[in-house]
Amino acid sequence: MILVLNGPNLRRLGTREPDVYGAETFDDLAELCRTTGEKLGEQVEVRQTDDEAELVGWLHEAADRRLPVVLNPAAFTHYSYAVRDAIAQRTAPLVEVHISNPAAREEFRHTSVVAAVATGTIAGFGLQSYVLALHAIAEMNSEK
Ligand code: DQA
Repeated sequence: MILVLNGPNLRRLGTREPDVYGAETFDDLAELCRTTGEKLGEQVEVRQTDDEAELVGWLHEAADRRLPVVLNPAAFTHYSYAVRDAIAQRTAPLVEVHISNPAAREEFRHTSVVAAVATGTIAGFGLQSYVLALHAIAEMNSEK
């Protein structure tokens, strides 16, 4: 089982700044992740929250259950040391993903406080960032 965790504002995909994040909705994203999981033979559970405490709780759950995670921390990426410290407790791979390429955007998005504790980062490929991350995790699982 792979958890796909999403931070603030991501449930508004489709209506939120479509020029940056595309026209597809959060439900489309969830479906894409689940069908990718089916192809890879992995069960995928997709969640979203606007609440930092809830996201920290899910990361604790992933650590305790030794579950790999695909995480789009959204704006928390840039300033949440609480999310960073929760990721540092991970017991399985965690891939940081972004739909857009934060390095090509405003200055404040150039800093990720979580990147150093993630297994790796995939950014800038639209919703395909999640597909690539799921493939990376499936690949790491098969190497075990
Ligand atoms: C994002 C990029 C972040 O800078 C932003 O705050 C988001 C979405 C992305 O997926 O491109 O909410 O994580």
